[in-house]
Amino acid sequence: MNLEINGKTKLCGLMGDPVEHSVSPAMHNAAFRALGLDYAYLPFHVRREDLATAIAGVRAFNIRGLNITIPHKIEAMGLLDETDRPARQIGAVNVVVNDCGRLSGFNTDAEGFLSMLTEHGIEPQGKNVVVLGAGGAARAICFALASRGAALTILNRTAARARACVKDIAKAFSTQVNALDLNRENMAYALQKAGMLVNATSVGMLPDSGATPVDSDLLGPHLTVVDIVYNPRQSRLLKEASKAGAKIINGLEMLTWQGALAFERWTGLQPPIDVMRRAASAALRQHEK
Ligand code: ATR
Repeated sequence: MNLEINGKTKLCGLMGDPVEHSVSPAMHNAAFRALGLDYAYLPFHVRREDLATAIAGVRAFNIRGLNITIPHKIEAMGLLDETDRPARQIGAVNVVVNDCGRLSGFNTDAEGFLSMLTEHGIEPQGKNVVVLGAGGAARAICFALASRGAALTILNRTAARARACVKDIAKAFSTQVNALDLNRENMAYALQKAGMLVNATSVGMLPDSGATPVDSDLLGPHLTVVDIVYNPRQSRLLKEASKAGAKIINGLEMLTWQGALAFERWTGLQPPIDVMRRAASAALRQHEK
């Protein structure tokens, strides 16, 4: 169904820098069309110094909803009227809803990660999970897993960031959570007793698709390996994990789920997840050309 922009069309969009290669416009516009909704989604290239003006513009233009991406996920929090608890714990927002000028911020990375696991029949409760990374995405994943009672081992290049993440999680949840320095010995030790490995670093992302954060001999069939890298769709880590007999989940899944939950917040409707997944995948293929 093709929708024409008209006087009543509701506008959503993405604020970030850069935004040119985002698949979110394709994913959300496909979802709006599939449900016949009078909505449109645009990318907004907003520089760091313009963020406050851009957020004021959301109120002035009565934009219904936003995705917030790099580098604004932390800064945006202070410009909204309210943020939900997960967003405050994680320290970042990736979704904004505008209700008559009142802006509410959410973090759907965390919830999206859990929905993705549920779709794959994975229950985090009682699982030993190794998380690589301690940036915004890693923190969302760690809080999500901790909230469901998984035991966590966090390894990050900058050890202090991993320790800060452990401290914040320990304040909110009683689950077991440790930080280890990122080296082969610790990785081998942690992976031996783990059921799941999540790469929440950017290692392996194009143009460095030859890189992997884990030596392949440490992978095995006892693991479910999740990579947030979606470009390339199957990272070197996932290729080697699959070869080693592990179950794998690629980054497109988390991307789709965080988008689906944003869609639900803006529209109040059940997101057409398969439509969104297909549109995101097609947009990625387009970028790969
Ligand atoms: P995001 O919000 O997308 O998570 P980020 O906050 O910049 O982005 O975090 C990127 C993550 O990838 C961090 O954990 C980073 O490690 P540092 O905290 O040490 O910076 C990790 N990362 C990026 N490049 C890396 C590399 N070459 N080797 C190991 N870790 C890397």
